[in-house]
Amino acid sequence: MYTDGTPDENELWDNFYHVLRQVSVLSEEERMPFIALSEYLLGERSPFHPYAVDTIGDYRSLCFWLSEYGKRFILPTAKSLLTLDTMPKFKKVADIGCGTGWFGAGISEALDAKFALAVDKRKMLLKGYTESLEMFLQIDVEERPKKLVEAIDVVEPDLCILCDLLHCIEPKSRKELINNLAGRYCLIVEYIPDDQDLADSYRDQLVRKGAKPLSRADIFELFPVVHAYTTVHPYVYVLTKL
Ligand SMILES: C[S@@+](CC[C@H](N)C(=O)[O-])C[C@H]1O[C@@H](n2cnc3c(N)ncnc32)[C@H](O)[C@@H]1O
Repeated sequence: MYTDGTPDENELWDNFYHVLRQVSVLSEEERMPFIALSEYLLGERSPFHPYAVDTIGDYRSLCFWLSEYGKRFILPTAKSLLTLDTMPKFKKVADIGCGTGWFGAGISEALDAKFALAVDKRKMLLKGYTESLEMFLQIDVEERPKKLVEAIDVVEPDLCILCDLLHCIEPKSRKELINNLAGRYCLIVEYIPDDQDLADSYRDQLVRKGAKPLSRADIFELFPVVHAYTTVHPYVYVLTKL
């Protein structure tokens, strides 16, 4: 926020992102004004553009939106943590819960590392950021944790990145997922807007599946040893060697 009370661009995008999370589960009729607005503002980058909303609809449009938002606001912060003097030079990146793959692709490029592994239970989300990707594994990491361990053992990434994944995972499975990445550097990025709850509709979807948003306390419980930590509202970034 500028001193004259005008929201800065980052804040506007944060608010817009929050609105879109809410909008993505409204009825088609209710969504129309937001669709028109986002297409007017963003053109083909709109999460509601026909190329984004095709066969799988809302979730995909949310992930496309996250790609646009993330490249603009999440990547620079993530890169600054990963290139701290105290960090090793990472050579192989694994993106777990990769969505469209923008984070793995962006981090690999920024670090001049290999985008060695991308994992997601939805293959259809993986679009546009795969040119340099070496291996994609389509699995549910909660249901098939051994498959993830096998892939990690083969690929041997020195950096695992998890952007906005943990809130999709049931709390009791989060520890197992993290234990399976033991010995590796991990960058965890989570959407935690302290003063603003997750959009009710999105929260309901998560809770129905047995998952739930994380609080800051959950983050510190999961990662008691942290090598670098920062928060650029509404995201929290934890870099740690598990
Ligand atoms: C909110 S999206 C974030 C996607 C991407 N990391 C990003 O930042 O754009 C969560 C992603 O995790 C994937 N996901 C959720 N639960 C999963 C699970 N149990 N196993 C594998 N992938 C999962 C979803 O399919 C989705 O792509």
